[in-house]
Amino acid sequence: MTGRLTLFDHAGNIVQQDAEPLEFRGKQYRIAKIMPADEHYFGLGDKTGGFDRREQAFRMWNSDAYGWQESTDPLYKSIPFYLSYRAGTSLGVLIDNTWPSSFDFGKTKGDTFEYRADGGPTDIYLLYGPSAKHVLENYAWLTGPTPLPPLWALGFQQSRYSYMSQERVLEVAGRLRKDRIPADAIYLDIDYQDKNRPFTVNIQTFPDLPKMVAALHQDKFHVVTIADLHIADLPKQNYLALDSGIAGDHFVKNADGSLFVGPVWPGPSVFPDFTQKKTRGWWGTLYEPFAKAGIDGYWNDMNQPSIFNVLKTMPNTVMHRIDEPGFCPRTATHQEIHNVYGMQNARATFDGQLALKPDVRPFVLTRAAYAGGQRYAATWTGDNSATWNHLRLTTSMLKNLGLSGFSLAGADVGGYAGTPSLWLLTKWIEIAAFQPIDRDHAEKGTGDHEPWAGGPQHEAIRRHFIEERYKLLPYFYTVMEQGTRTGLPLLRPLFLQFPNAAADRHPIDVDLAAGGEFMVGPDLLVAAPPFPDRANDYDAELPSAGWYDFWTGKRLDEGSTPTLTGDTLTVAAMSTILIHPELATLPVFVRPGAIIPTEPLVQSTVEKPVGPLKLRVFPGPDCAGEIYQDDGSTFGYRRGEYLRMRFTCETSSRNGDLAIHIGTHEGRFPAWWKDIVVEVNGLKKNPTSITVNGRATNISSSDQNVSITAADRGAGIEVVVHQ
Ligand code: GLC
Repeated sequence: MTGRLTLFDHAGNIVQQDAEPLEFRGKQYRIAKIMPADEHYFGLGDKTGGFDRREQAFRMWNSDAYGWQESTDPLYKSIPFYLSYRAGTSLGVLIDNTWPSSFDFGKTKGDTFEYRADGGPTDIYLLYGPSAKHVLENYAWLTGPTPLPPLWALGFQQSRYSYMSQERVLEVAGRLRKDRIPADAIYLDIDYQDKNRPFTVNIQTFPDLPKMVAALHQDKFHVVTIADLHIADLPKQNYLALDSGIAGDHFVKNADGSLFVGPVWPGPSVFPDFTQKKTRGWWGTLYEPFAKAGIDGYWNDMNQPSIFNVLKTMPNTVMHRIDEPGFCPRTATHQEIHNVYGMQNARATFDGQLALKPDVRPFVLTRAAYAGGQRYAATWTGDNSATWNHLRLTTSMLKNLGLSGFSLAGADVGGYAGTPSLWLLTKWIEIAAFQPIDRDHAEKGTGDHEPWAGGPQHEAIRRHFIEERYKLLPYFYTVMEQGTRTGLPLLRPLFLQFPNAAADRHPIDVDLAAGGEFMVGPDLLVAAPPFPDRANDYDAELPSAGWYDFWTGKRLDEGSTPTLTGDTLTVAAMSTILIHPELATLPVFVRPGAIIPTEPLVQSTVEKPVGPLKLRVFPGPDCAGEIYQDDGSTFGYRRGEYLRMRFTCETSSRNGDLAIHIGTHEGRFPAWWKDIVVEVNGLKKNPTSITVNGRATNISSSDQNVSITAADRGAGIEVVVHQ
């Protein structure tokens, strides 16, 4: 069988066209597509290289890539989904084939895209937009959206390979509290285990895990433990994970029926056969003692799977048993299963948490993944390095992960391999404060990475940015909740939000001036430097005129050439702004028309904020915002225990009055606030009066903005700023 596909839209325009017929050679096949010169390509998860996949080629083979660099491929995940994007029109392509395969976006042939697979089905899904947003919505419909995480997962997370003892964990947690650095999670890496054996505890160094966890809970921390999938091959030693796995026949075997054994952290190890439903069920039960000890989340690492042998993983000939509802039971080689193995591991962990605590939203962090893996776990970009270049690469990796379904993603803050300079760690903490997973993590043997490393001056800057993240949590959480319905990621490229920003409708993220930029939700634009190690001024690109400076609330109005030095802004209505980089500042801009909910500072998401909800209003076109709240941890929201409020604003063309509509409370979850502070930014002159539900109210004003406080009884509030 062969074929050549041309896809037209309703108007008869070619959306995509095969360059040559589908070609088969034995089990292998090849697809070739025409690459129009102005087409761009995004997705494929966090593969490195430039943001645009054009002129690059990638292999799909989940790999442990310790110390990977810009040219390293393959990395840890295989997500065979990309978006082609041409003049504002987008098409999503999912090639649902787990076999070793490759995507070549014209690297070899210039104007031809080639996909090659070593075997497997030709299951190709073409998701026509025409908008990129619609493609992502369809992709989420097809592979599942990122579920609503527990709120604490959006807090600051502190990790290291490894905090070596119970005392050290408590000391680090205590210091975060003492230094008033807001934080929500602390991680236990492999050394909390007995000789690196998964599902054990080193009772010499962690003599009372439940007690330590209870103390951390008391101090408003959540605890995440690593739970790797390699089970030490130690028969007859009362190692429960092994003995129960053997008894249930849960481990993968060689073609001759013997158990496959390979060395990893604990030495010779065996590996669960996650393609069997019963094995995933068994795996979930291994967490029971840890759930009882109060552990809040699990970290599934090394699930490519990594093995310390020549292949760095299992041989292709290892056999997996596919046995679960909806699939014809059969055996499959590791060659076929390899790329989905890590996802099935995360799935088993996720489902296991649900079985143990049915009304708690699981938190799982996975290193390996396949398309759809976002349903089960958050992810990170693996063993990056403590270099400026890696900080730079993080932005495009997270953008591409977001375009590949993974909304909940981060990179080791500060870099994993090597010790970051103080400046690098500071800048990294600043930028990561605006990224979905904000986890500071470091390799064994590296210098301290915690926010206080290097002294009080650096610590103060880092604290400031982490605090800002916490104030913005209502916004982050609302965007995450929206994503469960829209498939749109928290961290997103500019073109997703502003496809028409450039006259030729090219994706502006590929412009040099936008190289370091990313959006957080629909309204915040972080203009990190394209080359963060350079002290030179740089241009940041804004998608339209009229944007605001997030920090001061000032509008980038018409005027001379705009310059931002530190927090001082000289403004103009242009789409580029010249930035003078400084260590202590990070340019963040707000979309005209945004209404951003923020909360009083807390030290942990466990604390209920004390004080009013603040709505930061930035007048402009399509003025709207929303807040979504719930208990942050259970599925109560599915039973109506949530709170949603919508906000809009408009400026009267008749008299310039600004009307702000604060919607009613939807859902049954009670608000933590009694009052709402409405902060209006960018007013050209001081208002003559402000009315709340028709009555004049006290105004407090500063150089930057005016604000009023209104009691919120849930029935909606009308605020009018009279000019
Ligand atoms: C892997 C992980 C790293 C972890 C280490 C020890 O290298 O990527 O994050 O710290 O294993 O568990």
